[in-house]
Amino acid sequence: MMDRDAALASVAQQLACDRLLGLTFVPLVLRAAPEPIASAPPAARGPAPVIPAPPADPSRRQDSAERLRVLDETCVKGCRKCGLAETRTQTVFGQGNPAPRLVFVGEGPGYDEDKQGLAFVGAAGQVLTRMIGAMGLTRDEVFICNVVKCRPPGNRTPTADEILACSPYLWEQLRILQPEVIVALGAPAAKTLLHTSEFIGRLRGRFHDSYLSGVPGEGPCVPLMPTYHPAYLLRTPSEKRKTWEDLQQVMHHLGLPPRQTSSAEGDNG
Ligand code: URA
Repeated sequence: MMDRDAALASVAQQLACDRLLGLTFVPLVLRAAPEPIASAPPAARGPAPVIPAPPADPSRRQDSAERLRVLDETCVKGCRKCGLAETRTQTVFGQGNPAPRLVFVGEGPGYDEDKQGLAFVGAAGQVLTRMIGAMGLTRDEVFICNVVKCRPPGNRTPTADEILACSPYLWEQLRILQPEVIVALGAPAAKTLLHTSEFIGRLRGRFHDSYLSGVPGEGPCVPLMPTYHPAYLLRTPSEKRKTWEDLQQVMHHLGLPPRQTSSAEGDNG
């Protein structure tokens, strides 16, 4: 049980955080998830660019890094908006390039991530590192984060309420990062970022529009490729080939040179 001063400090922190996220009112009723949005057919997007974009200018990197730091320090680290705050060791904000072309979004921290405070550093993280390497990139070139910033006990899937409480942080991260492409790793990330209840097996394999306002159809959108979660690939290696096909589409979109399928990422072994 919190004492009165701690409770007041927590409310003040929450209000400061809401202001940072642009929330000017306190919702009295939790809204249900909006209706699914229709995804644009791949043909409607036109040909993918083939010229790699120049690196982000240093002032944008600095600005983005600072805004991410403030979001983490002001909002995420002390967050107590859901029950996961009771059981976490620490929050896991995510890490990587503050001005990335590509962002990977997973589900939520596991045991190792909760202990280390870093996203994707356990067994699934090793698979993700190999996936990124197979694309010809390094972890430092991309940004890696999760839908929820605290470990769900026993690594269970986060509940709809936990996702609803935490997703404003993810949307704000994405608005700061301004990636050219987002890869959603697994169903919770894809469903959250696309406001859909469709199965991952039906979503993967093509680009969808993800609206960074967090409201379908409003504001700028970023192409999002849903694919299988690395932990699922550890259990179901036969799906690695499809995942590699998804990542190849992302590479093509970013104008990255094609690469041979490596045994770790692309085959069925
Ligand atoms: N699984 C996730 O979804 N995220 C992590 O950070 C680790 C495992």
